[in-house]
Amino acid sequence: MKFAILKERRLNETRVAGSPETVKKLVALGVDVVVEKGAGTSASVSDADFREAGATVASDAKAALDGADVALKVQRPMIEGEKSDELGNFSPGQILVCQMAAQSEPEFVSALAVSGVTGFALELMPRITRAQSMDILSSQSNLAGYKAVLDAAAEFGRAFPMMMTAAGTVPPARVLVMGVGVAGLQAIATAKRLGAVVSATDVRPATKEQVESLGGKFVAVEDEEFAQAQTAGGYAKEMSDAYKEKQAALIAETITKQDIVICTALIPGRPAPVLISEEMVATMKPGSVIVDLAVEAGGNCPLSKVGRVVAKHGVRIVGHANVPGRLADDASRLFARNVFNFLTPMIGDDPVALTIDMEDEIIAGTLVTRDGKTVNENVPGGASEAAQPVAVDQEEA
Ligand code: NAI
Repeated sequence: MKFAILKERRLNETRVAGSPETVKKLVALGVDVVVEKGAGTSASVSDADFREAGATVASDAKAALDGADVALKVQRPMIEGEKSDELGNFSPGQILVCQMAAQSEPEFVSALAVSGVTGFALELMPRITRAQSMDILSSQSNLAGYKAVLDAAAEFGRAFPMMMTAAGTVPPARVLVMGVGVAGLQAIATAKRLGAVVSATDVRPATKEQVESLGGKFVAVEDEEFAQAQTAGGYAKEMSDAYKEKQAALIAETITKQDIVICTALIPGRPAPVLISEEMVATMKPGSVIVDLAVEAGGNCPLSKVGRVVAKHGVRIVGHANVPGRLADDASRLFARNVFNFLTPMIGDDPVALTIDMEDEIIAGTLVTRDGKTVNENVPGGASEAAQPVAVDQEEA
């Protein structure tokens, strides 16, 4: 069986879906690995590193895919009409494993189905214990949460920790983290390590204890709706207008006292909730910084812009694109391990082809296209007419 690790071509994508460590392990399992030339360069992995791990290096994507059974990528390949037609290099029957944004990119999913490629969308990984080591959303969000705090520190004209010096005392920075999922928890921990006074808010009640255990103060409207805001799959629900109003009033009051706000609030398959209005930004202290990690999903602050640092009302609003890609080396290493952990159960003792067992909820949850059809009911255009774009929460679906 042959695996191809392809070079990323989308804007701002610096990561690679394989690492020397995972190549070595695949080769030990009897898999032939071919890496497209330069695939690891932006993540500090050279062709020589991949060769040393046991891979061969192909001159381009077409050559890498020639005879390959499985292709590994970070981002979905570009399709006809985009900058280059990466999908055009694939042959029917090949398997593609990558992050696809399958719930929000129906054009890609239908092009993939038409191409006859069997596609696994890693972002659809079920949130179950067995899948934790395969979960790209977790591994990448964790790094993004860390980097968001460092990005905030880089824009902030003051220090994070309290410092008592001969020239006077520097007060500690006050940091508010909005959304306490994987990224938010790492942001809290990172801001604490830098010496900030940290508070955090979320709509899921389970997060209160997590914030407090990291030494943060929990700020939220704790009413009846809050008590039921978590789906069985562990994600947030979209809140009612009445809740949003109460939440906005509390945030408006809290935000004027903050120096840094790290926004991470997301609802799978929906636009990110708007949590910081322009009026709220205008009440913040000059020199404050907002980092909007949700910017690519529409943003928690309407002023944030993808790939830009916007200065408005004396506040700097940071909207870097692909924040995990700003830590390309670690992000690639973890992504590659997630992919390896996902694929190894499908590689038998004598690897000839991947075993696709539809009884396995991890496989059924992530398989998007097969035999020319869209087969995942959680993806628009999928097998069931009752397709729910947000139904990652399988227990409730
Ligand atoms: P996410 O990236 O989808 O959302 C980030 C955070 O934003 C969430 O905590 C969410 O509750 C919050 N949020 C949504 N709307 C909000 C609003 N209006 N105001 C404030 N906050 C809002 O979440 P992520 O990081 O993917 O984690 C979700 C849950 O899944 C966590 O409980 C995590 O522990 C769990 N998880 C389970 C895994 C497994 O068992 N395999 C793997 C990874 C995460």
